[in-house]
Amino acid sequence: MTAATHRIEVMHGVNLDQLGRRDPLLYGTLTLAELEQRIARDAGELGLQPRFFHTNHEGAFVERLHSLWGQADAVLLNPGSWTHYAWAIRDALEIAALPAVEIHLSDVQRREPWRRVSVIRDLCVATISGRGPDGYREALERLREELERSGSERSGS
Ligand code: DQA
Repeated sequence: MTAATHRIEVMHGVNLDQLGRRDPLLYGTLTLAELEQRIARDAGELGLQPRFFHTNHEGAFVERLHSLWGQADAVLLNPGSWTHYAWAIRDALEIAALPAVEIHLSDVQRREPWRRVSVIRDLCVATISGRGPDGYREALERLREELERSGSERSGS
């Protein structure tokens, strides 16, 4: 299998469609469409195939995770504030059983105490936060490493 076949589901959660209107000091100035363009460019350079999903509805986010079986090889997810309390999303990520990286544009460890909690962190191979849009490239690199490592373990090479 070549790296070009790695399908990455990029999932944006609640309020991320409001990027461009949110605090630029925390979240930068890119709109979600502009952020996705950057992610698509970076993914292409890394030989990955991204597919994007955004919703403001927790149930829709859960159902998208359910649908990933056979549709994606890994997940890059920024659940927004759901990260901090949405146990149903945690359960659905566990059901998806795919390598996942948690990403946040802002540095959630240096903000309000409630943002330091992540209900998904231990299910993820990495958490990247506070790196703005550049963090997405790091996350893609991390997922590619993970997929290549697990692929070579499976093939015994
Ligand atoms: C966020 C951080 C969350 O705490 C917040 O609720 C968001 C965005 C980030 O990308 O920095 O909506 O996930």
